[in-house]
Amino acid sequence: MGTKIFSIALVVAFAAILINTYMKNKGETRYIFHAEWYDPVSATIKKFHLSFFPRDKSVEMYDLRAQRLFLKRFQIEGIDERDLYLGNTIVILSRQLKITDYADATTREHISTRRQRTFAMVKPDAVHRLGEVIDIIQSRDFEVSQMKMVQLLRSQAAMFYREHEGRPFFEPLLDYVTSGAVVAMELITTDAVKRWRETLGPTDSEAARQDAPDTIRAKFGKDKQSNAAHGSDSDVSATREIEFFFPSSKMNNALVPETTAKFVNNTCCIIKPHAIAAGNLGGIIRAITEGGFDITALQMFRLDKIQAEEFLEVYKGVVNEYPGMVQQLIAGPSVALEIQSIHGAETPAKFREFVGPADPDVARELRPNSLRARFGEDKIKNALHCSDLPDDGVLEVEYFFKILQ
Ligand code: RTP
Ligand code: MG
Repeated sequence: MGTKIFSIALVVAFAAILINTYMKNKGETRYIFHAEWYDPVSATIKKFHLSFFPRDKSVEMYDLRAQRLFLKRFQIEGIDERDLYLGNTIVILSRQLKITDYADATTREHISTRRQRTFAMVKPDAVHRLGEVIDIIQSRDFEVSQMKMVQLLRSQAAMFYREHEGRPFFEPLLDYVTSGAVVAMELITTDAVKRWRETLGPTDSEAARQDAPDTIRAKFGKDKQSNAAHGSDSDVSATREIEFFFPSSKMNNALVPETTAKFVNNTCCIIKPHAIAAGNLGGIIRAITEGGFDITALQMFRLDKIQAEEFLEVYKGVVNEYPGMVQQLIAGPSVALEIQSIHGAETPAKFREFVGPADPDVARELRPNSLRARFGEDKIKNALHCSDLPDDGVLEVEYFFKILQ
């Protein structure tokens, strides 16, 4: 008798679990992606189906080669729907997974329109107005997800613009885009390719001033050639152009345009994640330029904990804020800059003065025009890191622009 009741109870409980699971999965949104992880132990690329459930921000991983569940569904801190887009790398249990494709039609339809990528490049004639260009980018709801100042070689420019080879403006175009540094960016938003072309305006800057005065080319361009910025003309071009400047695999690194860092008479500055998240990237870059300093190298980084600890090691055990400083530096993308100025070897001291006291409240009292007074929130969210001593500047610039390359 007892056994019978027990059996019935068992069946009922089992059915309840099944029904519950069915109900949960039935109406629930699930996005599925193809994702890859390079396994250093076996030196192979492992391929997965990565599922994301927006309801509770949980993930699940299925190993495609072994054909089995690799990681049971679990809630994960720090990953949001906005992180799930083609080409992005996300970290799950210390593994850096690259999202390579959509694995079903619903995911493709939903994510690809909402989180489209495009490639933008600020051309040599407008780099000194980078801050203003970024202000426009941010005010139109584009997210800057990758960013790097580089010097194009002629061969690289010819490769990048190969669709125009043979046209009368091809050689002058190569002269123009190699005449100085450019800033390459990956931008993300809904319908990004089209919206960025609209934000740029017509190719000819004069025509832009006539027909679309609110556009980047109308504001910062000169003529038909020197037109301030570039934008991909299709989804396919965007993918190719992003890969050209920000290769997804180290194997493609050989041909990648190089950083413009000079590694002398410089100082290093990092625009911290909170300041970027607050929409102040453009404002800070503008302030630095207006303050008489030259940004001679620039790149966006997503530091991991080991890198942040390594970079901030000199502060360990010296300042109380050290753990908070590390946390802040890995809280999101940051932008590292190499700064030079007419002050030559005095640049580190002059720039430190311009950045202001470490505590923004003190800075607002004593040096209200300093960067930390203007953009800082508190001792940890103090907008910028800047090198202490002249020798540190060189080493820190080398850390970002040599070691992390
Ligand atoms: P981009 O590729 O730079 O975003 O510009 P776009 O699509 O509006 O123009 P495209 O026809 O692709 O031309 C590429 C760049 O070549 C220069 N150009 N010069 N002198 C001329 O007649 C002429 N035409 C084009 C411009 O710098 C243009 O952005
Ligand atoms: Mg074009």
